[in-house]
Amino acid sequence: MPNIKKRILITGVAGFIGSKLATALLNQGHKVLGVDLLKYDKASINHLYSFKNFTFLKEDISKESVVKKIIKNIDFIFPLAALVGAPLCEKNKKEAIKVNLSSIKTLINNLEKNQKIIYPTTNSGYGVGQQNAYCTEETPLNPISLYGKTKSLAEKEISKHSNYISFRLATVFGYSYRMRSDLLINNFVKTAVDKKKLAIFEPNFRRNFIHIDDVILAFVFSIKNFKLLRNNVYNLGLSSANITKLELAKKIKKNVKSLKIKIVKNKKDPDQRDYYVSNKKIEKKGFKANISLEEGILELVKVFENSDLNIKNNY
Ligand SMILES: NC(=O)c1ccc[n+]([C@@H]2O[C@H](COP(=O)([O-])OP(=O)(O)OC[C@H]3O[C@@H](n4cnc5c(N)ncnc54)[C@H](O)[C@@H]3O)[C@@H](O)[C@H]2O)c1
Repeated sequence: MPNIKKRILITGVAGFIGSKLATALLNQGHKVLGVDLLKYDKASINHLYSFKNFTFLKEDISKESVVKKIIKNIDFIFPLAALVGAPLCEKNKKEAIKVNLSSIKTLINNLEKNQKIIYPTTNSGYGVGQQNAYCTEETPLNPISLYGKTKSLAEKEISKHSNYISFRLATVFGYSYRMRSDLLINNFVKTAVDKKKLAIFEPNFRRNFIHIDDVILAFVFSIKNFKLLRNNVYNLGLSSANITKLELAKKIKKNVKSLKIKIVKNKKDPDQRDYYVSNKKIEKKGFKANISLEEGILELVKVFENSDLNIKNNY
């Protein structure tokens, strides 16, 4: 099949996911319009400015005038701009609702029917409070954090559009041009490398993970196979990586030999996720995440050991 070049809008292009997605799509020859307020890392898209097929706008996507301007002549939209994570949204409630939810409503209201949206949301509302729940796309999402609430309400808005795909992402890990060390695996590996000690509470809580490069491959797959996937919601995670925090720590110890793992008793994790996630629905459509936890951990150990990244976490 010929690789037809598309005009693609990525909001939040300077972010952890956006900067990697833009790199992949530009390398494939697509025309990318990237929009971002550059809240955290201004250098994460420096390597993109040399692409002739890349245009960057420093704009606030919560303004309707901006939305109207940036969607003109666009085939695919990845609305990634958001306030990401529970602590950040708790700190900035109004802005979280405006950026994560209201801007999505505005986007949907202004789109033409044939414009296609591919949206990432979190699966973090599944299974909260149900020990070892097994979650499919039919399992109700009951997010407790404002972040989770804004994202699942935004997914509802997205699903009103005539051409959409929504991915409920597992916890992402791996390196990106804007590095995040608040994500569980990234955080554990960084702490293990820096401190050689990991204190874990609720060690048997289980959740699903996925490498950032697999997320990007899934997004590329969904552009190519839009008709096959359209108007549906998919869990997106690595099926072999439904593991507990303790199992994860033991895997990290294989690469950081001097690591001491300490179990902290009687302390509650503010993140009450404890579930197995099924990724069968997307796998049946032909996409399967492949990058293993071991590969990702090794990558992260090298990143944190050998570079002095100036990581600006967002809260
Ligand atoms: N990383 C994950 O594990 C994960 C999991 C599930 C879903 N997601 C979703 O993927 C998307 C991207 O996440 P990320 O990890 O790359 O986050 P990130 O914080 O690295 O990136 C978000 C980007 O949005 C930009 N932004 C924020 N408000 C803006 C505004 N008003 N106008 C323009 N730009 C604005 C920020 O400057 C930042 O560059 C988010 O929608 C997030 O909810 C991420």
